[in-house]
Amino acid sequence: MTESATAPETQPIDPAVEAALQASAEARANTLLEFARIPSVSAQPEFAEDVARAAEWLGDRLRTLGATDVEVIRTAIHPIVYGRIHEAPGAPTVIVYCHFDVQPVDPIDLWETAPWDPFVRDGRFVGRGVADDKGQIVMHLGAIEALRAAGKAPAVNLTFVFEGEEEYGSESLTAWLPENRDRLQADAVVISDTAYFEGNLPAITIGLRGIMYAQIDVELSPVDLHSGQYGGTVQNPANALAKILASLVGPDGRIRIPGFYDDVVALTDEERAAIAALPFDDETYRAGIPVEALVGEAGWSTLERKGARPTLDVNGLWSGFVGEGAKTIIPAHAHAKLSTRLVANQDPAKVFAALRDFVAEIAPPGVRVTTHYIHGGDPSLTPMDHPATQAAARAIEAVYGAPPVYIREGGSIPVTAVFENGLGLPVVLAGFCQPSCNAHAPNEWLLVDNFERGTRVIVRLWDELAALRA
Ligand code: BES
Ligand code: ZN
Repeated sequence: MTESATAPETQPIDPAVEAALQASAEARANTLLEFARIPSVSAQPEFAEDVARAAEWLGDRLRTLGATDVEVIRTAIHPIVYGRIHEAPGAPTVIVYCHFDVQPVDPIDLWETAPWDPFVRDGRFVGRGVADDKGQIVMHLGAIEALRAAGKAPAVNLTFVFEGEEEYGSESLTAWLPENRDRLQADAVVISDTAYFEGNLPAITIGLRGIMYAQIDVELSPVDLHSGQYGGTVQNPANALAKILASLVGPDGRIRIPGFYDDVVALTDEERAAIAALPFDDETYRAGIPVEALVGEAGWSTLERKGARPTLDVNGLWSGFVGEGAKTIIPAHAHAKLSTRLVANQDPAKVFAALRDFVAEIAPPGVRVTTHYIHGGDPSLTPMDHPATQAAARAIEAVYGAPPVYIREGGSIPVTAVFENGLGLPVVLAGFCQPSCNAHAPNEWLLVDNFERGTRVIVRLWDELAALRA
């Protein structure tokens, strides 16, 4: 891409593209609002048609932007959207990955307004998906639209892979990627589905945790039993489940499943020092949630525990009578959904087997206990000195006037490791949300300023990546 040698450092992108972005600000904001009105919840089957509609919407947008080979690909669960803008002969090819599905909106009564009726107020977009991840998709679309308006094309060849199943474990795309190597020839992958650091400090994520999601079912009898008639003579499934769950994590916060930590790559002293050097304050973090106290595995800092150590959390728990008042029963059954967040080099399948065997071993007598796998994804760790990562750092610095920090995130993007290990491509995690954006919670939001600057980072990033080849 052309950039005059005398251009001042304060001019992060081509003036014609900047002018196009300024002229299109309102239209781009409306595009995000329109996209976010589609309730594309991947985890709830009743929204399957809406996920498909979001896929079609996105396919149409790509076609409008002049993408070729646009395809909305059906899978056993939710669609994948593919398309290419390959107009830079000889330049590197970059895969852009984001997801157009969103998390459920419950508890709906805690939303200020309807979650599917997004709006802009006080410099923020508010609505389900505006941050995670539709806002970031629209930043990518807006960057291309502005290049087009300025009579230009992206300086690198772009291959778009958008999925509708990220919030549900990415099973379909995990299988599809290695089966479609031929149309995924590339030099790097840019994933925009992460956040900046605390306080909206621009950041590049170098580590994501993996996940293993499972359910434990404890069954006693076909129906609830009278707790007076039968109490003291049979096993109570809720009590049994509580015992099982209580045995999984010790008082020191360490997970008790035998072999659980076997494959965890130890943090080096240098890595610990880099994490400790980040501008992070435990008290500010605590107060921002807000909770009474921060707790976790002994011997590790808060940032280490959230980004570089594995965890085990119960996500849901149900059994017996939960209405108002009282009912004297021994529940027929009890259930828990739980997930472990994994770090390099833990393997979700291996962790599941270890959990299942341990649960079977400690299960109290008199009930039938089964553990089943729901979904999983590998952890990922990117070297921060990779040229593509450094190109992203320069793009961020050009737009924000300061270099980004490098962080490890506690969340998961399952296909990151598939791009890295399955396709052998370097991945740059360049996302533009604020960490406190209420992702997965009521009143999800995105700063309009991050939306605008993120779009400019993307425009600049294509130039920086193109320059690598030269
Ligand atoms: N965007 C998040 C991942 C993320 C969270 C990145 C926090 C950086 C900071 C993503 O959409 C997500 O929430 N993923 C799920 C994946 C799971 C359902 C397999 C997650 O982490 O819970
Ligand atoms: Zn996301």
